[in-house]
Amino acid sequence: MRALLAGLAAATMVAAGFAAAPEPRTAAAAVLPYQDPTLPVAQRVTDLLGRMTLDDKVGQMVQAERAVVSPGDLTTYRLGSVLSGGGSAPTPNSAAGWADLYDSLQRGALATPLQIPMIYGIDAVHGNNNVAGATIFPHNIGLGATRDPELVERIGRATAEEVTGAGQDWTFAPCVCVARNDRWGRTYESYGEKPDLVSSMTTVIDGLQGDRLDGPASVLATAKHYVGDGGTTNGVDQGDTQLSEAELRAIHLPPFAEAVRRGVGSIMISFSSFNGAKLHGHKYLITDVLKGELGFTGFTVSDWAAVDQLDGRTGFTQAEVVTAVNAGLDMLMVPVDWKTFVGYLRAAVQSGQIPTSRIDDANRRILTKKFELGLFEHPYADRTYASTIGSAAHRTLARQAVRESQVLLKNQGGVLPLAKAGGKLFVAGKSADDLGNQSGGWTLTWQGASGNTITGTSILQGIRSAVGSQSTVTYSRDGSGIDGTYRAAIAVVGETPYAEGQGDRTGSLGLDSTDLATLSRLRASGVPVIVVLVSGRPLDIASELGNWNALLAAWLPGSEGAGVSDVLFGDYAPTGKLPMTWMQSASQQPLNDGDGKTPLFAYGYGLTYDGTTPPPPPPTGTGSCRVSYATDDWSTGFTANVSVTNTGTTALNPWSLQWTYSGGQKVTQSWSARVTQSGTAVTAVGETWNASLAPGATTTFGFSGSLTGSNPRPASFSLNGLACQAS
Ligand code: BGC
Ligand code: BGC
Repeated sequence: MRALLAGLAAATMVAAGFAAAPEPRTAAAAVLPYQDPTLPVAQRVTDLLGRMTLDDKVGQMVQAERAVVSPGDLTTYRLGSVLSGGGSAPTPNSAAGWADLYDSLQRGALATPLQIPMIYGIDAVHGNNNVAGATIFPHNIGLGATRDPELVERIGRATAEEVTGAGQDWTFAPCVCVARNDRWGRTYESYGEKPDLVSSMTTVIDGLQGDRLDGPASVLATAKHYVGDGGTTNGVDQGDTQLSEAELRAIHLPPFAEAVRRGVGSIMISFSSFNGAKLHGHKYLITDVLKGELGFTGFTVSDWAAVDQLDGRTGFTQAEVVTAVNAGLDMLMVPVDWKTFVGYLRAAVQSGQIPTSRIDDANRRILTKKFELGLFEHPYADRTYASTIGSAAHRTLARQAVRESQVLLKNQGGVLPLAKAGGKLFVAGKSADDLGNQSGGWTLTWQGASGNTITGTSILQGIRSAVGSQSTVTYSRDGSGIDGTYRAAIAVVGETPYAEGQGDRTGSLGLDSTDLATLSRLRASGVPVIVVLVSGRPLDIASELGNWNALLAAWLPGSEGAGVSDVLFGDYAPTGKLPMTWMQSASQQPLNDGDGKTPLFAYGYGLTYDGTTPPPPPPTGTGSCRVSYATDDWSTGFTANVSVTNTGTTALNPWSLQWTYSGGQKVTQSWSARVTQSGTAVTAVGETWNASLAPGATTTFGFSGSLTGSNPRPASFSLNGLACQAS
């Protein structure tokens, strides 16, 4: 995936005792087995590990922040990785600026005796959002509303190209958090409140990582934040998830199981705690469950200075380092204090507090991904992808995602879609002409900012170009100047940008006074009011809704605001469905599908322009059900991921899926369904939250099992007694 600068590669070979050659390093030219790309990765890793000193191994496990590390530091301390925190960009912030930064750091890494390349990580969480001019895709909550995993995979691919074009190898995405309380400031990073919805969107990993990690423009993906980040009490960011282990497994674990099944290269551990125990020290959940039971073979990465939080005091200690590494942390994100960390880690190994086997395992995991990415063969930035950054093709894809993510919640008297001609339109609201507001946090900076911070099309610009010369569009940010001569008023209101804990809302979840004042001006004119809500989560709007003729939830659409106007004017009829249950009032939080509370709008709600909610996808094939069944096997066990779709016309409540095993497989543990086995016959039934399967609905679940040699696929599946199609 990386380009090789012939001159630098030649210099590298000189250092390795070879005559300078302008050709890329080839098998014949490789001096040592680990440098030979024709050998299997496992063999290369073993060879390299055998040559590494303790300092080399310690350095591989450390990730420092770009602003506080120099190429010389990479050489001296043998650092394995560098990251950009949110908004941490080189000057100039351009594709070339980023690629130059990358290459200069990489030269530092390659100046070490073993020339092990570094890997560069960045939060490309809705497009490559730290890079000026990048395409900004909708935040995950909007993508969840699309219910379109294939679209999300294409967004992953486009993002990977824009990441590659800026020289980086690794994105800290996707967040596969299941947001269970809208008060949480990271709700918009979640694809939705239900594990099966989030799991279905892990297709983004396929897009990011491509068919092969060393394929064109493939980057390493990160499923984060393991585990239960979206389940904290009161929705407090970095808080405590107080659940039984069974609930944790049913709600928060399935998307990670699915990400592992798709081969995700890294997993970021959560700042949060599980029943009072910090995840960064949680050996059972990291080593036993994630690496053991789920069979994760990539590497774990700690969150931003999170090791520092283990003992609840500021400043980190050797004891915290010991706890985290022994719990199963492989790569440590120690943005600023990395030098202290290097010292502690080395001392902890020398004193036997961390076994060498643990250090070797962490190195093996990290180096395996570096080899798989092709970093040893192509260590430098691949500048040919720079032209994809903010390209027309990617912006078209983003606009499609925006269209599909819009959820129409109210449409009194069919006021939408608006005609493009036939009378004046009035547009107001603080987010109507504000690219920063419509993009949210993690946009050019960590927190994001209001104002026209990025390149793109505001919602107002989208509206103006939709109507062209057919109607007059008057814009007034605060709504002043409206009168009864307009045929409709569009108010674009909602939340201003935030990220992480700064977005936690403990009090009201309502609109701010600016928005309420704008809306009352519009309302007073007597003109029909269409509200477009730009927000990272559902808001408490029940008391205002009666004053509005229409309500469109736009989420945080990103740079392509024309996708919103496409829906307003009917160029695209809405198909989005709520990824979250919409509260009647903030006091209902936490509020989730199936918990018995009465919402304002149910999970899955979304109107179309013919007045109905979107119909379920038409049944395909002749069976009453469709099953996809995939396993990841190792010599003595396997994990399986199953998705079952009711393609019939009646709801199955409860559903029950049956199959038989012919190879002596034994189910040991399951998630998102109860899977039991009697002899060779296996039965899976849903948990309380997915016990029934509506026509057209799909649910996913997984389990692990033991093996004696082979793992033949079941010959057939039946759902409530009827034969299923396999897919
Ligand atoms: C966030 C992560 C992010 C990391 C690096 C942390 O504060 O929790 O999601 O990947 O910073 O920017
Ligand atoms: C960084 C973010 C990081 C945050 C954590 C910020 O300075 O830019 O990436 O997530 O700190 O506190």
